[in-house]
Amino acid sequence: MPLTGPKIPLIIDCDPGQDDAVMLLLAFASDEFDILGVTTVAGNVPLELTQRNARIISDIAGRSDVRVFAGCDQPLQRKLVTAEYVHGKTGIDGIEIFEPETPLQKTHAVDFIIETLMASDLDSVTLVPTGPLTNIALAMRREPGILPHIKQVVLMGGAVREGGNTTSSAEFNIYVDPHAAQEVLHCGRPVTVVPLDVTHQALVKPGIVDRIRQLDTTVAQATVGMLEFFNRFDSHKYGTEGAPLHDPCTIAWLLKPDLFRGKSCNVEVETDSELTMGHTAVDFWQVTGRPANATWLYDIDKNGFFELLIERLSRYAS
Ligand code: BDR
Ligand code: CA
Repeated sequence: MPLTGPKIPLIIDCDPGQDDAVMLLLAFASDEFDILGVTTVAGNVPLELTQRNARIISDIAGRSDVRVFAGCDQPLQRKLVTAEYVHGKTGIDGIEIFEPETPLQKTHAVDFIIETLMASDLDSVTLVPTGPLTNIALAMRREPGILPHIKQVVLMGGAVREGGNTTSSAEFNIYVDPHAAQEVLHCGRPVTVVPLDVTHQALVKPGIVDRIRQLDTTVAQATVGMLEFFNRFDSHKYGTEGAPLHDPCTIAWLLKPDLFRGKSCNVEVETDSELTMGHTAVDFWQVTGRPANATWLYDIDKNGFFELLIERLSRYAS
C-alpha cells in the first residue's frame, strides 16, 4: 500500500550495515517522509555498533535532528548471529569511524515505538524494518494497542527464488530472529516484503559507484567507501560484478512503487527446524489455502531504482 499526498510518517528500524546506511541516506534525502525516529537493533553487528553507526550516518547526512534510539541487543529467543564477515568489524567498514555528535536518545527503542504509535492517528505510521524484527515484534507483544496505528510495515527480509544468503534456506534478517519475523508477518496490518528475490537484481556495478563518486560530496564519498567495501565480499560470494543493495529497496518502494512487482501471498517463517530455520515459505501460487498476509515483491526495475538513488544522493550539498 504505497502512500501519496502529505508527508509519510515513518519509523525506520535498522542494523547498519552499509546497505542500511545507504537506506538511511536515501530516506533522509527524501522530503516525502516525516521521519519520526530511527530505531536500531542488534543484527549485522552488535547493538552498541548499530546504534553508533546510525548516528554516524545521521552526522554525515547533516540530519542530527532525527532522533536515534537503541533497542534490543538479542533476538527474542535465539542467540544473536552477526555478519562481520560481510560488513566488516564496525558494520560500516569503508568509511572512517568517529564519535558522532547525533546523540543517542535515552528511551529504549521499543518504548519509543509504542509511545509514538499510541500518540499517532489510527492507520498513520509506516514502519520500515531493515534488520532482524526483534524491536518491532516486541513492541507489538508489549502493546497490541499499537496495531491499528500502523499504516503498514515495509520490511527487507526473506527469499524464495534466490535461496538463502545465511543458510541454504534462510535470508539473514529472518534467520537472526525468525520468531519475531513470524509475529510481524501475522500482525494483521499490511506488510510488504522486499526479499532477496528483488534485492539480488539491484547489483551495484562499477558504473553506479562511479556516478555516485562524481557527485563529489561528503555523502557521496562515504557512500562510495561503503559500497566498495560491501561489493568486495558479495561480488566474490555471488560471482557477480557488484553486490546487491538490499535495504534501500524498502524506501524506494515507498517512493516509487511502480519500480516493483509484487503479489499478495501467504508467508510463514520456519521456527522449529534447525536445518531450515528462518526459511520463508511463500505460497506464491496459492496452493495451501492459507490466507494472504503479505505482499511479496519479486521484481524490480533496477535502472529506475539506481536513477532514483543517485538523484536523491545528489540532493546533498557538498
Ligand atoms: C540483509 O541482511 C543484512 O546483511 C543486510 O543489511 C540486509 O538487511 C540482507 O540479507
Ligand atoms: Ca540491514
